[in-house]
Amino acid sequence: MVFWKRLFSNSSDSVTSALNSNFKGEFLDIEGETNSQRRIFLSTERDINLYELEELCDAVGWARRPLRKVKQALNHSFLVVSMWEVEKNQRRLVGFARATSDHAFNATVWDVVVHPSCQNKGLGKALIKYMIHQLRNKDISNITLFADPQVIDFYRRLGFVLDPEGIKGMFWYPN
Ligand SMILES: CC(C)(COP(=O)(O)OP(=O)(O)OC[C@H]1O[C@@H](n2cnc3c(N)ncnc32)[C@H](O)[C@@H]1OP(=O)(O)O)[C@@H](O)C(=O)NCCC(=O)NCCS
Repeated sequence: MVFWKRLFSNSSDSVTSALNSNFKGEFLDIEGETNSQRRIFLSTERDINLYELEELCDAVGWARRPLRKVKQALNHSFLVVSMWEVEKNQRRLVGFARATSDHAFNATVWDVVVHPSCQNKGLGKALIKYMIHQLRNKDISNITLFADPQVIDFYRRLGFVLDPEGIKGMFWYPN
């Protein structure tokens, strides 16, 4: 089985040209990965092409949202995490998640996605662990999210608790 092993900082010429030198983040070392040319990179940079993000969301069948509003949502997010596949001097967005926050106690994670071609390799787990790590570094202690029914166990494995002390999520929608 392929799974993530460790995070480390690194750079090489081809990677630098694929990501550009301002793009900061960390590489993910994938155990069992045979293609040494292919690297996975995690970043909190917000410089994300909205069309590329839309393509990623299309790939998992999510309903399209107006890009103007997606841009606004990204701009107003507390944390944006992107995951890139870097090969030779090309990069491809393969994962994404963002969090909103009160900047003091609470953060809520939204829009968690890994491209189908990269699923079941431990990348989703690495993405969420990275998100938690970044939020903990910002002294956020309460991290919540809304899980689709089919991914509850994915989040459970990462330490998320369903309905702690019977607390229920409640929603209000316009009629
Ligand atoms: C949910 C998603 C992010 C998981 O990403 P992934 O890269 O395939 O997940 P991983 O390979 O890191 O899996 C980590 C663990 O969770 C398990 N897992 C993955 N998807 C799961 C699912 N849908 N249900 C239950 N367990 C799941 C894996 O078996 C693995 O278990 P292990 O640690 O015991 O080996 C990805 O499937 C996805 O993008 N789905 C479509 C979008 C979506 O549903 N997003 C969530 C909205 S709330």
